[in-house]
Amino acid sequence: MKFRPVASSLLAQRKPYLNASLPLLNPSSAMAAGAPGHEEDPDERLCAALDRNLSLATDPPLPPPEPPGRPLSGDSHVERAWAHWRRLGEPKLVVAPMVDNSELPFRMLCRKYGAEAAYTPMLHSRIFTENEKYRNMEFTTCKEDRPLFVQFCANDPDVLLEAAKMVEPHCDYVDINLGCPQRIARRGNYGAFLMDNLPLVKSLVEKLSCNLHVPVSCKIRIFPCLQDTIAYARMLEEAGCSLLAVHGRSRDEKDGKKFRADWNAIKAVKDALRIPVLANGNIRHMGDVRSCLDHTGADGVLSAESLLENPALFSGFRTLEWREDDGESMNDLGLDQAELAVEYLKLCEQYPVPWRMIRSHVHKMLGGWFAIHPEVREELNAQSKLTFEWLQGMVKRLRELGGRIPLYGKGNAMVNGVAACNS
Ligand SMILES: Cc1cc2nc3c(=O)[nH]c(=O)nc-3n(C[C@H](O)[C@H](O)[C@H](O)COP(=O)(O)O)c2cc1C
Repeated sequence: MKFRPVASSLLAQRKPYLNASLPLLNPSSAMAAGAPGHEEDPDERLCAALDRNLSLATDPPLPPPEPPGRPLSGDSHVERAWAHWRRLGEPKLVVAPMVDNSELPFRMLCRKYGAEAAYTPMLHSRIFTENEKYRNMEFTTCKEDRPLFVQFCANDPDVLLEAAKMVEPHCDYVDINLGCPQRIARRGNYGAFLMDNLPLVKSLVEKLSCNLHVPVSCKIRIFPCLQDTIAYARMLEEAGCSLLAVHGRSRDEKDGKKFRADWNAIKAVKDALRIPVLANGNIRHMGDVRSCLDHTGADGVLSAESLLENPALFSGFRTLEWREDDGESMNDLGLDQAELAVEYLKLCEQYPVPWRMIRSHVHKMLGGWFAIHPEVREELNAQSKLTFEWLQGMVKRLRELGGRIPLYGKGNAMVNGVAACNS
């Protein structure tokens, strides 16, 4: 199996931009709004800063193919799906969609460390169409943030199309979330609860596939019965889905640590479909990537929880827990999560996001360090208002307190220059 080399300087100067209906984000004024001494909610301040900057993006991407306007025949649809996938470089290593966690700076960090594509967090299609503040807070991107899947939850085809039209110039797929198993999705009638209303799912996919310039992708969970899963996946393909990500757990298997993803079911879907299929579940290190691709025949993998702890996963680095998982010999090459946290914070200064997202990432990346120094975690929790200066100081203090926890890689991996071993 061959992987594309990792770009060494993805993080050069870049200008955040949003689509033409959305205002250009000016990082310096957004950060000024986040400076100490202000009393309002920091996320509100970020939002206000976004609202004040009304210049439009100047650099639109090339126009994609015209929407078909009607369902394409099976063969043309499949050919078009593969042509698009190949144009994107057949990305194998993909950052999964994560509410409050797969936002722009985190995506850019993962891309630097080997991710070849990424999903946005799930966006609520109705709120996205109705609320400019929500749009500006929850969806930011930049030129280098590609290939990009923008994910929506929805239960109304017209509303979904309206939301999708707003983002299509700045993404490579519009994705429909058909897998969220949370109570909020049951109440809102979206995500995995649409598995009870497949005609509605079909109409969502058809609406997008007939009317968008970019292809539509879907992310599903499996049914308890394999034949139901296969029939579901075939229906999605026939409705115009051009890429399917399969999370190998059912709607009731919410706890990813308790339930292993069913790679056999993913393989069965891959064998039954003609469009590209991505596998999701149990990707904790690059050894898992290899095993999963071999086992399922999938065209790529998504990783979620493990990437939060170790954003350098896709460039071959492992946490101590997986250091010897498959007999690989891994060494301390000088990279650790504190360093990744510092890189992430710098990206947040460049690409402002709500503080709740930053807080969440710091907890996940430094969870092992906080376990050794719980007093530092308590101090972080006690800060009602965060600043980058405070967070950088906290990371410095964690280092000074000792008990560094390395990430492990193979001898040939480079560290911050980033060409890594992908093993
Ligand atoms: C913090 C978090 C947020 C998530 N949010 C989303 C989401 O917005 N959309 C979605 O389709 N899945 C979401 N998921 C599910 C993941 O995309 C993924 O399907 C699941 O975690 C299994 O992958 P893993 O075994 O690599 O963690 C989320 C998972 C986590 C941990």
